[in-house]
Formats: sequence, C-alpha cells, structure tokens
Amino acid sequence: MKLSSLISHFPSENNLSTRARPYFNHSVEFKKVFSAKDRAEMLGKVGLNVFFFPSEMITGGDFLSDSGTTTMTNEQWAALHLADEAYGSNKGYFLLRKSILETFGNEFFNLPETGRPNAFIFHQGRPSEDALFSMIGRMGNDLIIPSNGHFDTTEANIEVNRITPLNLFSKELREADNKFRFKGNMDIQLLKKLLQKNSNKVPLVYLTITNNTGGGQPVSMNNIKEVATITKYYRIPLFFDACRFAENAWFIQNYEKGYQKKNIQEIVSEMFGFVDGFTISFKKDGLVNMGGGLFLRDGGLFVRKYPHISDDIMNFQIRTEGHPSYGGMSGRDIMTHSEGLKTIMKKEYLDFRILQVVRFGKSMHEMGIPVIMPIGGHAVYIDMNKFFKGTKIKPEDFGGISFTAMLLSLYGHRACELGYYAFGKYDPTKKKEIFPEINFVRLAVPRLRYETDDLQSAAEAVFNIYKNKDEIPPVEVIYGRELPLRHFKSRFRFKD
Ligand code: F0G
Repeated sequence: MKLSSLISHFPSENNLSTRARPYFNHSVEFKKVFSAKDRAEMLGKVGLNVFFFPSEMITGGDFLSDSGTTTMTNEQWAALHLADEAYGSNKGYFLLRKSILETFGNEFFNLPETGRPNAFIFHQGRPSEDALFSMIGRMGNDLIIPSNGHFDTTEANIEVNRITPLNLFSKELREADNKFRFKGNMDIQLLKKLLQKNSNKVPLVYLTITNNTGGGQPVSMNNIKEVATITKYYRIPLFFDACRFAENAWFIQNYEKGYQKKNIQEIVSEMFGFVDGFTISFKKDGLVNMGGGLFLRDGGLFVRKYPHISDDIMNFQIRTEGHPSYGGMSGRDIMTHSEGLKTIMKKEYLDFRILQVVRFGKSMHEMGIPVIMPIGGHAVYIDMNKFFKGTKIKPEDFGGISFTAMLLSLYGHRACELGYYAFGKYDPTKKKEIFPEINFVRLAVPRLRYETDDLQSAAEAVFNIYKNKDEIPPVEVIYGRELPLRHFKSRFRFKD
C-alpha cells in the first residue's frame, strides 16, 4: 500500500486546531530579566506613559505596535547587504518600482523622466500624508476629508492643514454588531448625506484598509465598490490608506461571497483598481522596519483634476526627504521592500499571520474579556467601556491608561490605549473632556515575531487584571492633557 493513498483516511493538516508556523526562528535574542517591582519603578519614573518605557525592560510581549516591528526574513537580511548607497537612482529603487507595479498595478509608478511623476517614496507613512494634505490644504478653506476611520497621525496631518477629518464609521462598528465580518466599512448613508450637501468641500475620500482606528476591522470589496461609485458620481478622487492592504485582501478572500477562488494578488489588483491614489506605510504590510510612500494613478481623476500637484509633491519631497529615488531611506532600507512585498502576498504567510491574531483574540473572548469581535487582522482590541462596566472608573479617570500601566508593570506586556485619552480632547474654555465614539486598548501583534506561548501568556495576564478590575485605580493627568497628540507625550499618576 502506498503511503499517499492513506492521506484521505486521516484528518487533513488544515483541520488541526493548531498548525506549525510556515517559518522557523533563524536567530533569536534573549531578553534581560526584570521583576514586576523593577517595571513598576520604571513606570513611575516615566509617568505611566508606556511609550517612554525602555523596550529592553519588556519581559513579556511588546504589543505597542505592529508598525516597523516585523522580524525580517533571511532574504531581506541578505538584500540589505546587496544594497547600493548611490545618491541617485540606486539599485533598490528599481527593484522597489518593479514590486510596486506587480503588486498594485502598472499605473502607480512612472519614472520621473517620463514627465509624469506619480510615485513618491518617503521614510514612513506620515510624511507621505503630510505631503498629500499640505498640497490639498492649499486648495481652499473649510475642506473636509471623510474616512471610514482616520488613524491618529493621519488625522493630525489633516488638521494641521486646516482641513476637517471626519470619521464615518460603519453602523455595525458603532452598534458593536459581533457577527458582521466587515465592520471596517464606511457608512454609505452618511457619505451620501455628506456629499449631497457638501461635495464641493470634499477634495478626496479616504478609505483605511484595514480600519486601524475602527478595531482593525476589514473593509469589504462591496463597500470599496459602493464608495467608488458615489465618488465617481461626484467626481471626487478616492484614496486608500493602504497600510494593511494584504490583510484586508485576506478577509475578502475568506469571508466575502464570490472571492474564495481568487488569489490574494487578484483581490489586491481589484481593490486598487478602484482608487486614484494611495498612501502607505510599508512598516506594516510591506514587512519592513522603515518605509512609506504616496502613489497616484497615472491618468486618474486626482492627477487630472489637479495637474500641478505631482510637481508640487516632488518639490516637497526633495525639500524634506531627498531625491525622489530614495525619499528619506537608505539604499539598504529600500532593498528590504521588494522582498517584504513578495512575502506578504504568500497565502501561507497570511493564513498563519491572521489566524494567529484571531486565536489570540478568541482565547481572550472565551475568558470573558470584552474584545471587539470578530477579531481583525493585526491586533486585538479590548472595549474599555465594557471592561470597566460596574466599577467606579468614570470616563475622565482614563481607565485604559491605568490598565496598560498595570499590564506592563505586573506582567511585562506592553499594550496601547487607543480610546478616550488618545482620541479624546480637552476643551480648556469649558474645562471639559470631549470623548470620542470609541474607547479601546489595543494589543497589536508584530509580524513574524512571536510564538503562540507569548500571546497566550498575554491573554492570561489580561484575564488576571480583568478578574480584579475593581482594584484598578483611576489616573490623573499630570502633564499634557491639553496638548495635540497628547497620548505620546503625557504623564500620569495613579490617584490615591
Ligand atoms: N495609517 C495607518 C492606518 C496607520 O496605522 C499608521 C501607523 C499610519 C497611517 C502612519 O504610518 O507610522 O509609518 O508614519 N500606525 C502605527 C500603529 C503607528 O501603531 O498603528 P507611519
């Protein structure tokens, strides 16, 4: 009997509850040993602001961000060594161009000598946003940029250019519908309402895929199509904030009707077929530690409507970053991108990556912790309003800040508050806090970095704090309450 004929008699490897990772550790680094007391002392010194906590002292998982925290592959480390550090048009630039064309479409990367430059590389996502919004800010007053969920720095880059950022979160996200698979969608009715009255004030519509501010939830192809139909009708350009484009495509492939037979590349090509441009931080789905860009569709509505903008963006880029062929990155940095973009599109990579995050979230859900369900692609979000329900913690006590400080000091895991403090604002005239719609703490999972035990230990730590939530003290803000982007800078202390 042939061994291969037995395969069908056994459960398939795909049906096991745990699967081996599609990669192995090539090289590891041992952590230093610190106790809960050491961490508590240090947290006190840094004013309970986890951003200021030295990463060397993190003995658990560092879930502060999935941005720039990827472990690189052997191919990427090898590519670093093959880099050329020429001032103009280095080797990596052409390799990056090839991968952008292959991944996102042939319309997104003209060489500047064509006279139609449309690909602007920057050292990360936010300078590309800065470039785009400073150009748009000059176009008029009272402009509004609607999104399904602006990220915090994106929102800040819009506001600093006197444009109003507007979040049109989906109804399912706002109403905490735990079944709907595409809670990252934009609310179509709200978009229609806005454009019926104010279409002349909207220079572009922005879709963030996946919706990081909105619980890391994906956006469906149908929603992208619907938004594109509306923007086309009003002749308004449509842009992606494309940081987690491949993870978004995975959700479409797995959960949207009609996409099961399409591969990730086909889905990505279809998604990008709808947009006139996109900004991206390659620190997420580019699988690199540094990099970003702004890409405009050649002949698309945006460049047709604003023909001078490409040149203005290039001037901005040269002034702030460097020659367009390196855009603020070393040749080495650029070399890692084309390998990263190859890996990110692999089905075995995405299957493992997303299911690892999903298992992490589900295990917390099964412990009764109020996580946003279904779990998104890059992080687990805990709903702080539900978490503190029945306790004495009030919104102005910023329970999310207390919780992240306790998780780090007691158990050595670093999470990030993305809620009433990060997205809230202090109104000094009324001496009152203005609270946003959502109040989350996020545990973002770095790519290719952690094993299941790391995540399981974090889930257990969160559960221990949740079980004793009545013991969590409120915090008071001792510095920075009224500052913009205050969560990065503020300091706190526990109230007695
Ligand atoms: N857009 C989204 C949706 C993001 O999540 C981020 C970064 C950016 C833009 C800006 O990119 O950091 O390269 O300048 N998000 C990180 C996070 C910082 O932790 O979610 P960047």
